[in-house]
Amino acid sequence: MQDIVLIPGDGIGPEITSSVTKILRVAGAEINWIECKAGEGAFKETGTPIPQETLDLINKHRIVLKGPLTTPVGSGFKSVNVSLRQEFDLYSNIRPAKSLPNIDSPYRNVDMITFRENTQGLYIGKEQWIDQDEHAESIAVVTRNASRRIIKAAFEYAKSHDRKKVTLVHKANILKLTTGLFLEVGREVAKEYPEIEFQDLIVDNMAMQMVLNPQQFDIIVTTNLFGDILSDLASGLVGGLGVTGAANIGDDAAMFEAVHGSAPDIAGKSLANPTALLFSAMMMLDYLDQKNVMYRILSALYRVLQDQKYVCTPDIGGSGNTITYTEAICAALKY
Ligand code: NAI
Ligand code: MG
Repeated sequence: MQDIVLIPGDGIGPEITSSVTKILRVAGAEINWIECKAGEGAFKETGTPIPQETLDLINKHRIVLKGPLTTPVGSGFKSVNVSLRQEFDLYSNIRPAKSLPNIDSPYRNVDMITFRENTQGLYIGKEQWIDQDEHAESIAVVTRNASRRIIKAAFEYAKSHDRKKVTLVHKANILKLTTGLFLEVGREVAKEYPEIEFQDLIVDNMAMQMVLNPQQFDIIVTTNLFGDILSDLASGLVGGLGVTGAANIGDDAAMFEAVHGSAPDIAGKSLANPTALLFSAMMMLDYLDQKNVMYRILSALYRVLQDQKYVCTPDIGGSGNTITYTEAICAALKY
């Protein structure tokens, strides 16, 4: 049995985590869940969005499955997601976007994975007022070491998963020092992998290319903010935030979460699509080397999408809800 810290989170978090833990149990995953609190709910209850007890448990067990957490906009506490990524140095944010059977989308055969640098860029939270309420500044940090490890992670993944091409995305024509350094390191690392095609694109062109011809992309590696935006764009190509998972991986800790947020507009209505968190959980099973369980879940999910679309949640064209969808996947796992 593998101990995993489970953070149900805010909004739709408890609904989708309970769906996913049920599917994993039925599929035979060898996991012992250790549930703990974080986010807005924890803030209201304990006065801190990330209680020390939660940090201690993550520190001890090193692997987390996390529901979405609500972050106040503009003011209030710092994003717990960002804090956890920094605290445990989870430098690779990995977000696959793959076309699914029977999901309505103008695009077919999309299969790309974004590797987003997760600890630096504009997300270090160094902002200041130069002139209160009139002039604010934000600092972006890019270092050679942090660039190298995320770019290496992308190439290593490409190599071990038989992927053919890595596209590095930057804005080195304008941000010549920060994203220029990222590009320079990318060119160096690419030389270590002559068997993998390397390409670099400027971020605005990249956004257009992803919409015009997304099938040309395989592995994408980029800095924090560009990765945040482009990976959501990639989700949109395959059916939206409800169907794409993500992993945050460091050298000795990992956190698996959905790409979407806490969806307060639909919380508590059983309309939440658990597929995104289920994909994150499948990435976790891959990481834990419980690959057989992962493939069983994937096959059950594909069969439900293909043959029983009506049980799915409305965001992907079904007329069911979180429970009917979950039950159908559990039933498909049994035969
Ligand atoms: P959101 O992702 O929560 O919602 C955007 C839209 O997508 C909404 O219409 C929502 O109903 C829909 N949606 C999202 N997930 C869905 C699912 N599983 N099934 C069906 N529909 C789904 O983004 P929003 O509204 O910008 O953010 C809400 C809160 O979530 C904010 O406090 C934000 O900070 C937080 N957030 C947390 C993240 C995390 O914990 N990793 C990531 C993104 C946002
Ligand atoms: Mg985001």
